[in-house]
Amino acid sequence: MAAIQCGVAFQGSVAASLNSDTSLHKSIFKSKKISYTEKPWMSFSPMELKTKKTPSRYQSAICMSTPQAVGSAKVSVSPLHLEDAKEPPLNTYKPKEPYTATIVSVERVVGPKAPGETCHIVIDHGGNVPYWEGQSYGVIPPGENPKKPGAPHNVRLYSIASTRYGDSFDGKTASLCVRRAVYYDPETGKEDPSKNGVCSNFLCDSKPGDKVKITGPAGKIMLLPEENPNATHIMIATGTGVAPYRGYLRRMFMESIPKPKFTGLAWLFLGVANKDALLYDEEFRKYLEDNPGNFRYDIALSREEKNRNGGKMYVQDKIEEYSDEVFKLLDEGAHIYFCGLKGMMPGIQDTLKRVAEGRGEKWEDKLSKLKKNKQWHVEVY
Ligand code: FAD
Ligand code: A2P
Repeated sequence: MAAIQCGVAFQGSVAASLNSDTSLHKSIFKSKKISYTEKPWMSFSPMELKTKKTPSRYQSAICMSTPQAVGSAKVSVSPLHLEDAKEPPLNTYKPKEPYTATIVSVERVVGPKAPGETCHIVIDHGGNVPYWEGQSYGVIPPGENPKKPGAPHNVRLYSIASTRYGDSFDGKTASLCVRRAVYYDPETGKEDPSKNGVCSNFLCDSKPGDKVKITGPAGKIMLLPEENPNATHIMIATGTGVAPYRGYLRRMFMESIPKPKFTGLAWLFLGVANKDALLYDEEFRKYLEDNPGNFRYDIALSREEKNRNGGKMYVQDKIEEYSDEVFKLLDEGAHIYFCGLKGMMPGIQDTLKRVAEGRGEKWEDKLSKLKKNKQWHVEVY
């Protein structure tokens, strides 16, 4: 399948935006020396990361060229038998008999100006709860279910943000990207900790060595189809919805796996509030630097940018900007994934419908075709 690729022209456009931001320019070129094994989930420490300035827009240039090979040395992973199964593992551990895993690390991964807190949490499952990229774990927070006295809390699902090899590349850990659910009293506008989200607060407050009850892995809808290494994957995320894509992209660009090299196009559209709320940005930009022909990365900063109507710049506005290319890629068989806020789906559907109508196409027909062809993957919460 021919995918739209950005070669030399794209590199040029990135260089132009970098040159206008010296600190970012430095950060990207510094990242060349990074060893993924040193601090695998991030190229810089959070403090270092958040003191770096990020330009408000990273737009991929529109250009056509032939696919390029994926560049840069890759990280060795083990155990390779994790590639052998024909079907993904499913619900190995159930709510009645969860697996007790151990917290390895909890790291705040957003800057001080991000609205709210998001943490990257690495969990040691000892290789006992294997999963595939795009699946979720369930977490049972400690304590009693307020609605069923004496019973444990209900399971909360979290998309896994690492590949099956985990952030230490040994198949023994899984990482989650968790946004702390904080409850603000609508009358006073003040936080009411007694009503804060149970599980997200438990996870974000946990410490290395703490035990965590997990279930799963769950879900098939967001598994990465890998039959065609030259396929196009268009990934749409708001906030923590970026988690499964971090796994996909590591598998495509970072890890050395016994699979045909990824020669297609991965295109990530990410919607977050502001620069401080960007997640895994350094890692993604490293892929952009190393694989300009195979990766595109477009960001919508809702509280720092305006859309063409003067409203908030949401991820659907970014998609609209590139709608001709997106529609062409979908017609050519691209997979499209949506993950994150449930609230984004109506806006996205409206946008796609408007674009389709402008092209003289009927969105409902197009959508049912995408679903029938298994090109359409949605996991929103
Ligand atoms: P809960 O205790 O369940 O509370 C839910 C909300 O209600 C909170 O916002 C809380 O502030 C509010 N609330 C609590 N008590 C009251 C009250 N008395 N009155 C009014 N409001 C109240 N989340 C992520 O962060 N990252 C992910 O990668 C992720 N992946 C997911 C994948 C799937 C497939 C699904 C279904 C969900 C996913 N989620 C993810 C969401 C996650 O499962 C939880 O729903 C989320 O973390 C909130 O759980 P909690 O226990 O913290 O909040
Ligand atoms: P905003 O909060 O400025 O309205 P969150 O940080 O809550 O996970 O949200 C991630 C991003 O998704 C934020 O930029 C948020 O914008 C944006 N967002 C909120 N509602 C929608 C929506 N209906 N459609 C698309 N994006 C949305």
